[in-house]
Amino acid sequence: MDLKAQAAVAALDYVQSGMTIGLGTGSTTSYFVDLLGQKLKTGELKDICGVPTSEKTASRARAWKIPLVSLDEVSVLDLVVDGADEVDPNLDLIKGLGRALLREKIVESHTRQFIVVVDESKLVAKLGTKGPLPVEITSYAAKAHIRWLNTLGCRAELWLEADGTPAMTDNGNYLAKCWFENGIPDVLDLAEKLAWRAGIVEHGLFLGMASLVIVAGQEGIRKLEAPQ
Ligand code: A5P
Repeated sequence: MDLKAQAAVAALDYVQSGMTIGLGTGSTTSYFVDLLGQKLKTGELKDICGVPTSEKTASRARAWKIPLVSLDEVSVLDLVVDGADEVDPNLDLIKGLGRALLREKIVESHTRQFIVVVDESKLVAKLGTKGPLPVEITSYAAKAHIRWLNTLGCRAELWLEADGTPAMTDNGNYLAKCWFENGIPDVLDLAEKLAWRAGIVEHGLFLGMASLVIVAGQEGIRKLEAPQ
């Protein structure tokens, strides 16, 4: 079985009937949504409600007839299961290469437990060493935001589709990709700078949010728990 699928299978152990579950975005989470749909179909699980983090995930869940609710209708989720693009030894994450970072961060801020499902290729010693940090920006003054991002010690560029048009999020915003040559030197400092800047809608640093990371590797499943 594909490693991403193995991680998704392991996450199912944390699901119980009656739970409200945040559904992440990406290929690993897609496996999880499919498994959840199958369990509901066979009746092994009942009364599950999903809160999707993207339109893509919502339509996959609907195909399985997983009942969906919006975050406006529930105060706290029992669990969110989502993938990640990078995971460091503190269980801090880079997310958003599936373009859903804003909704993911909102949903993941409303849960008792946030379980991250990854294959071992996502583990890094330092965030920003494997790929870019995605940043959601307003389409208004997008070039100005890119200019400012380039002052933060990275090479920032507007995320473009294959046809050269700006990639758009479900929220109607644009995205930037920020490339750090030797990883992000100080993630907290960067997260703070990004949080304070007008026009930066949200960034892909998910710091101190994961409660458990399920890593599927050649040697089997490993569970990395966040310190309490
Ligand atoms: C979605 O916006 C991202 O945060 C995903 O969680 C991430 O891109 C992981 O994707 P895969 O599961 O496809 O690797």
